[in-house]
Amino acid sequence: MSILSLKDVSYTYKSRYQTVQAVKNASYSFQQGKVYAIVGKSGSGKTTVLSLLAGLDLPSDGQVVYNGTPTGKMDRDKYRREDVAVIYQAYNLFPLLTALENVMYPLELKGVKAKEAKAKAAEMIESVGLTEEVFKRYPAMLSGGEQQRIAIARALAAQPKVILADEPTGNLDTENGANIVNILKSLAHEKNCCVIIVTHDLAIAEQADVVLRMQDGEMATA
Ligand SMILES: Nc1ncnc2c1ncn2[C@@H]1O[C@H](COP(=O)(O)OP(=O)(O)OP(=O)(O)O)[C@@H](O)[C@H]1O
Ligand SMILES: [Mg+2]
Repeated sequence: MSILSLKDVSYTYKSRYQTVQAVKNASYSFQQGKVYAIVGKSGSGKTTVLSLLAGLDLPSDGQVVYNGTPTGKMDRDKYRREDVAVIYQAYNLFPLLTALENVMYPLELKGVKAKEAKAKAAEMIESVGLTEEVFKRYPAMLSGGEQQRIAIARALAAQPKVILADEPTGNLDTENGANIVNILKSLAHEKNCCVIIVTHDLAIAEQADVVLRMQDGEMATA
């Protein structure tokens, strides 16, 4: 069964001066346990689709459906807190929190007690291949690849079913990029998550189970 689907989704950005139809009648059903890559030229609508899937915005037309419920009819704050995680190109870590505190944050939001959150966060950081050495460091004291792994650990802490990543390897060298993709792949294949990665990098798209291509707002399987 599909966990997340686009049903005839369109999205238009409207301002006083112009309207841009960024997504046109996109339909697709995403399954658990798979890695999807969304590729396409700059401006083709990839980030817009990801924002709609993340429940950050609602489609102008059509529906995004998670486990049978359209995002327009659900508690989207809860959806974003518990069911989906978004990973960005710029790691978006909280600069004044240590690596460990960054990963504890979503757990504390969920009401997990500090001691338990700490243990869980430590486990998550270890699962992305980092050690205790980084726990007390602030983001500025970590390399790009390490920051991205902490961002992934933070995304995983709340045990989301869906992981959305927008150019997660964009700032990384080939080796660190491959590392991140391997982590995302094992989340899909071993933890049964649905992983959707927007990428310009064809080497990364090749690692996905399914490649989707966006062109002028339209989405098709590549
Ligand atoms: N806030 C906005 N207001 C108006 N138009 C926007 C806005 N954000 C994006 N657009 C337009 O919508 C279209 C799709 O943008 P989107 O950001 O989804 O593209 P993208 O495929 O992610 O591109 P990139 O690869 O450069 O990140 C583009 O034409 C863009 O100019
Ligand atoms: Mg984009």
